[in-house]
Amino acid sequence: MSDTRRTPPTLGVGPDVSTRTSNADARAGVMGEPGVGGRFGRFGGRYVPESLVPACVELESAFRLAWSDPSFHAELDGILHSYGGRPTPVTECARLSAQIGVRLLLKREDLTHTGSHKLNNVVGQALLARRMGKQRLVAETGAGQHGVASATAAALFGMTCTVYMGEVDVERQALNVFRMELLGAEVRPVGSGSRTLKDAVNEALRDWVATVADTHYCLGSVMGPHPYPWMVRELQRVVGDEAREQCRVLLDGKDPDIVVACVGGGSNAAGTFAGFADTDAELVGVEAAGGSAVGNGIPGVLHGMASLLLQDEAGQILEAESISAGLDYPGIGPEHAYLADIGRARYEHAGDDEVLAAFQLLARTEGIIPAFESAHALAWVVREAGRAIPHGSTVLVTLSGRGDKDVAQARELLR
Ligand SMILES: Cc1ncc(COP(=O)(O)O)c(C=O)c1O
Repeated sequence: MSDTRRTPPTLGVGPDVSTRTSNADARAGVMGEPGVGGRFGRFGGRYVPESLVPACVELESAFRLAWSDPSFHAELDGILHSYGGRPTPVTECARLSAQIGVRLLLKREDLTHTGSHKLNNVVGQALLARRMGKQRLVAETGAGQHGVASATAAALFGMTCTVYMGEVDVERQALNVFRMELLGAEVRPVGSGSRTLKDAVNEALRDWVATVADTHYCLGSVMGPHPYPWMVRELQRVVGDEAREQCRVLLDGKDPDIVVACVGGGSNAAGTFAGFADTDAELVGVEAAGGSAVGNGIPGVLHGMASLLLQDEAGQILEAESISAGLDYPGIGPEHAYLADIGRARYEHAGDDEVLAAFQLLARTEGIIPAFESAHALAWVVREAGRAIPHGSTVLVTLSGRGDKDVAQARELLR
């Protein structure tokens, strides 16, 4: 499952990655339901071993049923409100706006319980797991935020939880490892490959193959086989839907000119973009410079999906490199690859130094310490204000998480 190919295998349900976006897909609507078999144009699909096909089909059916069931929404919304702290506010950044010459608004997912947007997805998936009668969650994590959120949901619902995490990330996100253990999860360090997020996903998928009868794979981003990219986007849509309403109140009924979010697999960006897909707002995803799958990727198959991936000439996956563990992924969710293809969103990148500068800048001007991941989106705005972003524009940035987990690493880097 860890191998990648430039052309898709005949396994499962998948698109022909050699063809461009079809008219049928265009008709399916931007950020609506994907095409047959979970296709987003030439991307997406379901490339999994035969033993996982029934589990993916079961999950898709359970999600479809739940998503059309008002009682599921009532329970999910209730938990995200009373336990998760939703709705999160939109904060006007007066001092930083004055400094860079654009009106900057932040959607504050850093204020969600556990410190990032990851909880939105995890609570939804844990509720689905319970509906499917599964008592164990398995998850992968990079920055540890999805692992912490999964461990939290498992504690809340009385489930057991195993989290796979690359050894490099175990070291740089030691605090989150301890948090997961405190919450009762077992953290299994992964020593293969680059020992980061990609390898953690491989191990989580391997675990799932062997335990599928009683285990739900709680995937943390808009990636993997169908239905995950679509389901996780829908579970994160709450970010964009809330932000749109809140912006309309703040901006006298208008939408922001530009909506920006960082992109690892792409879940906070997909949730944010979903709320603005049918507006005139420009949508910008910001990847880590060393993990820029849209800028430098080639179509291929990894982790059950066809998408843009960093590969060498032989189709081997290249290592992504970033100071932020959550963006250290050599691919991107298939819907983002599609949005780039059709030109509805564009994807930029930010380098480690400017990210570290933006991390400090937000702390000093607004009293908010962002996650390194979220600081990528800010870094792009700070760099492009007055250039790609005309002075006077209104820019909404999703602040996907808080920086507590990154403070120790920042201290080392700034020494
Ligand atoms: C705070 C934060 N933001 C963003 C991400 C990237 O994930 P995604 O692109 O799925 O939002 C992560 C991943 O760990 C994260 O912890």
